Amino acid sequence: MHRGAIVRLVVLGIVLGLGATAVAILIPWLPDSASDQAEEIDFVFWFVTGICIIVFSIVASIAVYSVLKFRAPPDDDSDGLPIHGHTGIEIVWTVGPFVLVTAMAIVSAVALARNEKVPDDAMVVNVVGRQFAWQFMYPPANAPDPGENMLECDQEAVKSRCVTSGQLHLPVDVPIHLRMRADDVLHSFWVPEFRQKQDLLPGQVTTLVITPTKVGQYEVLCTELCGLGHSTMRSAAIVSNRAEFDKWKQEAGKQTSGGGGAGQAVFAQNGCGSCHTLKAANATGTTGPDLDKLPDEARQARKPLEAFVRESIVNPDAYVQPGYPKGVMPKTYAGLPKEQLDALVQYLVRSSKGGGSR
Ligand code: CUA
Repeated sequence: MHRGAIVRLVVLGIVLGLGATAVAILIPWLPDSASDQAEEIDFVFWFVTGICIIVFSIVASIAVYSVLKFRAPPDDDSDGLPIHGHTGIEIVWTVGPFVLVTAMAIVSAVALARNEKVPDDAMVVNVVGRQFAWQFMYPPANAPDPGENMLECDQEAVKSRCVTSGQLHLPVDVPIHLRMRADDVLHSFWVPEFRQKQDLLPGQVTTLVITPTKVGQYEVLCTELCGLGHSTMRSAAIVSNRAEFDKWKQEAGKQTSGGGGAGQAVFAQNGCGSCHTLKAANATGTTGPDLDKLPDEARQARKPLEAFVRESIVNPDAYVQPGYPKGVMPKTYAGLPKEQLDALVQYLVRSSKGGGSR
């Protein structure tokens, strides 16, 4: 290979590399980060992207150069030269990728290990994922240790003292220890601005540590295909300053423990609106039946409205509205505390009759 060819290859490589770098940097691939843990993840992201750009430049420059330089004339139908291996090249293309992939694995493992450390002053939030809703529970500060594979708020003695919400409210700059499990199938918790993802598994508690650094509202996504309503399994992470967070928690605690508007609170806290439409709650989900039509559906099922609503919550497969698949509604709402279940039933009966939102 003479010098002219090498110079041309290097120039091509630099041009292609600059092009790829521009694509990587100028297009905002990720939203602005909003957690401490995002820094580690972003470092891994750029480390891997950098390696990819270098490999791309080498491969693409050789490919482009070869296409231009060694193009066969239109009437040349002869075979190419047979090539019988080249030990030097084979060593390079084995050792090179081995080193690069090992480096990526080590950098990723270090980043994840750092992010997984739970600080002593972390605030515990329990997360339950179910088809197709998120539930966030805030155990009292003195909740007894639930052991490895149980959430604090799963304990009977603690349950009624947990503040429950369908949205993830967080104070800014406080390390949060999310303890998560699934009720049915695999789900995966992800807030793009927080960067790190974690799966939710049935029967096992997984951990995610997040320290939000920016006040704002972000989207909570499920990133594991979990069934028909997977794309609707969304919620919000609301990061506010400590005083606002404390105020919200106090208000939410009062609502959970009963009273007039309790039914609407139970509806919101359990994420019912992510699958169902209900005008009174501004809910527009379409995975499950329209709850504004409950009286019609009860008639079709030949059951009195209130009994029908209650049965549909605690034993959802007893009657499934035609046009909707069986077995999609979680059976776990049978475990709602009695006052909450009663409040929810009353709320749905009133709202679907057009009785307003109270
Ligand atoms: Cu839960 Cu996808």
